[in-house]
Amino acid sequence: LDDPSADPFEIAAEAADEIARLTGVARHDIALTLGSGWGQAAELIGETVATLPCTQITGFSSPALEGHVGTLRSVLTPRGRRVLIIGARTHFYEGRNPRRVVHSVRTAAATGARTMVLTNGAGGIRPTWKPGTPVLISDHINLTGATPLEGATFIDLTDLYSMRLRDLAHSIDPSLDEGVYCQFTGPQYETPAEVRMAKTIGGHIVGMSTALEAIAARQAGMEVLGFSLITNMAAGIQTTPLSHQEVMEAGRLAGPAISSLLARVIGAM
Ligand code: 6GU
Repeated sequence: LDDPSADPFEIAAEAADEIARLTGVARHDIALTLGSGWGQAAELIGETVATLPCTQITGFSSPALEGHVGTLRSVLTPRGRRVLIIGARTHFYEGRNPRRVVHSVRTAAATGARTMVLTNGAGGIRPTWKPGTPVLISDHINLTGATPLEGATFIDLTDLYSMRLRDLAHSIDPSLDEGVYCQFTGPQYETPAEVRMAKTIGGHIVGMSTALEAIAARQAGMEVLGFSLITNMAAGIQTTPLSHQEVMEAGRLAGPAISSLLARVIGAM
């Protein structure tokens, strides 16, 4: 994937073949990427058919960070849906190129998945969102200066975060708030001035993932649903310094409630 002359879609197709062979599941229907705080959802979604270390699959990079589990799982829901659970996100802030960042999404599409569910842990700009609040992503602002698209690939992003799937999520939990997700490059958290900028341009949530993946999912023709777990208020909104420990702890505390929400939403698909 670091070789510009290689075709990333061919590499994704190869990875999908390996997943089919190693899991014994020919096609998946739904793919789910688990971000910070969402890791407990897998057990609630259905029966695990197979678990693979992502390093065993072509094109996957080993995860750099504590709390990011490097496995792929094939899960069967009670309603018979096949869910590919990606616990191995590759972040742009690790210095990986966008091709690597979106490889799991392209692989999921190549396994047959038509729905991509992206989850993350993120900072909240609305002061009413206490740590532990799940928020539906209604749209995004890509502040990375990067894109997974190459060449003259003009893709429509109207309704990127599918209204149909957001309505489905609201039917499970009518109290869910929605917000616009701003992807910063990281790995440093934002300055208070950057958070004010994000707010001014229409953002509600700040994070370091998801937007590039959502673009690639749409390119692959998938329907996208996105959830942020607010792990902390963004810099300047909360007055205490941000720490990765705080983010992990919020995820741990909110885990059971948000995992159950996610399992119910996916169960209804
Ligand atoms: Cl405040 N910013 C970013 N970019 N990512 C986060 C975060 C904040 N809190 C959790 N993840």
